Amino acid sequence: MNNDRVYKILMATGIKELDESVSQIDNCEVVGITESRPDLYIDIGKYKPQIVLVSDLLKGDESLTGMLQVLKREFHYTRFIYLAGQLNPRDQERIDELGKLVLNGIYDICITKGLNLELLDNLIKNPKTENAVSYLAKNILNNTEVVDNIDMPISGLVQAKNIGQGTIDNVYVFTSVKPGTGKSFLSVNTACAIAKYGIENDKGERPKVALIEADLQTLSIGTILNIKEDKKKNMRVAMEAISAIFDKGNLVGDDNSIFLVNKLIKDCMVTYQGLDNLFVLAGSTLTPEEIDSLKITPEYYVYLLELLKKEYDVVIIDTNSSMFHITTYPLLQKAAKCFYILNLDINNVRNNLRYLGVLNKLNLTSKINWILNENIENNKSFKDQGTDMEELYFTSDELEKKYRMNVIAKIPAISKTVFLNRIYSGTPLVLDDDAISYTLTAKKALLDLANIIWIIKKEMSTVSVKRKNWLLGLLKPKKKEKFKSTKGRSNKNGE
Ligand SMILES: Nc1ncnc2c1ncn2[C@@H]1O[C@H](COP(=O)(O)OP(=O)(O)OP(=O)(O)O)[C@@H](O)[C@H]1O
Ligand SMILES: [Mg+2]
Repeated sequence: MNNDRVYKILMATGIKELDESVSQIDNCEVVGITESRPDLYIDIGKYKPQIVLVSDLLKGDESLTGMLQVLKREFHYTRFIYLAGQLNPRDQERIDELGKLVLNGIYDICITKGLNLELLDNLIKNPKTENAVSYLAKNILNNTEVVDNIDMPISGLVQAKNIGQGTIDNVYVFTSVKPGTGKSFLSVNTACAIAKYGIENDKGERPKVALIEADLQTLSIGTILNIKEDKKKNMRVAMEAISAIFDKGNLVGDDNSIFLVNKLIKDCMVTYQGLDNLFVLAGSTLTPEEIDSLKITPEYYVYLLELLKKEYDVVIIDTNSSMFHITTYPLLQKAAKCFYILNLDINNVRNNLRYLGVLNKLNLTSKINWILNENIENNKSFKDQGTDMEELYFTSDELEKKYRMNVIAKIPAISKTVFLNRIYSGTPLVLDDDAISYTLTAKKALLDLANIIWIIKKEMSTVSVKRKNWLLGLLKPKKKEKFKSTKGRSNKNGE
């Protein structure tokens, strides 16, 4: 942690003594004081604070929580610390109100009666995570009526003016409505599968695969692949480089600076030790304020993708789950296919269905492919998931028949020990030796998934699982010439 960092704060608590005393806290600079709710928008634009500290005592009749949602969409990388006072655990209306803040990316919600400088110091310097406050949004997410009433921030998402409508045909995004559903696991395994077993590209070489961790605040891909953190080679460095040639979403760099920036970005790609044709752009661990200082716009991500698409045969992206996140929309819009990961948790399924409306409004539905992860079937191979104790009621059959969700891949639930061991050793399961019989089914499902993106030439005759037609491609390596025009790329859904 950098102790010299200065936090630029706009005070909007309506408590005069508090507004004035925060500048006494180490490394905190009060850049302005807002006197009433209607002034908030103008003051944030004027003072450009990293943090806005706000409370219900701020003068005005407008709904403060309603305003905060709108402000957060407009000033995405500004952190809002909301002093929410005490909370009655039975006051569901108030909990839902706070839950909406959480769903809009405001996590610094301070629920306490007493206030002192020490507490504020702690709040300012230790941003809360989504997980810490997600309990507030639980009711909303479990309740259709309430969710339908949420104004999805479409206008905030479509703020990317210059990113164009077209897609990039070798970019694939792994995403999910709910965090922790397996984006990193599946994107890493898919990238490894293509790098190891994909057919040669146009030049007769093994396919060059890029694996990108789009998030600026996590480091999961590096961990899964045992790649040591290198502060000079990650998403932050790439974004910093791009920020040098952009001004308010417009490319302003000259040829020379563009050349240098492109070189720097290429240098940020780290080769995975296990496969010399897999290149990883690791995420980074930035605070919201640090991200703010980079002034990232959606165009930065599009620039990055346009560069990578030329360098690599396949670009696979592990995204942040939040639709409200500034990076998510441009990535979804530019990708050739978006893989949405869901699981057999009925609430997760329902949330995905609700979310379809949002995707529809964004014209993204045609490229959505659902993947069922952590699939469990009622047979003895899943007994370590509990099927020997109780039959699973909601299965993939129901998902497909009752909810009409056509999943393009079903990845089985893997036992905990195997999952943890693969992370510990830094070798994704899809790279398991075929001699490991108990991971063969999962490995085959992962190869099938990869085959949707790029033709896989691995034979796995030892596994007897039901094959779909397009899987025949897995068994008989097709002649390279046949795929020349599309490189190794599979066509629609691998058919
Ligand atoms: N097929 C699977 N079988 C068993 N467990 C799984 C499987 N896929 C994911 N998990 C479990 O879910 C956890 C989360 O997976 P992962 O980190 O890939 O999700 P994520 O969507 O990338 O999460 P985040 O939103 O936090 O980035 C894993 O640590 C693992 O415990
Ligand atoms: Mg992840």
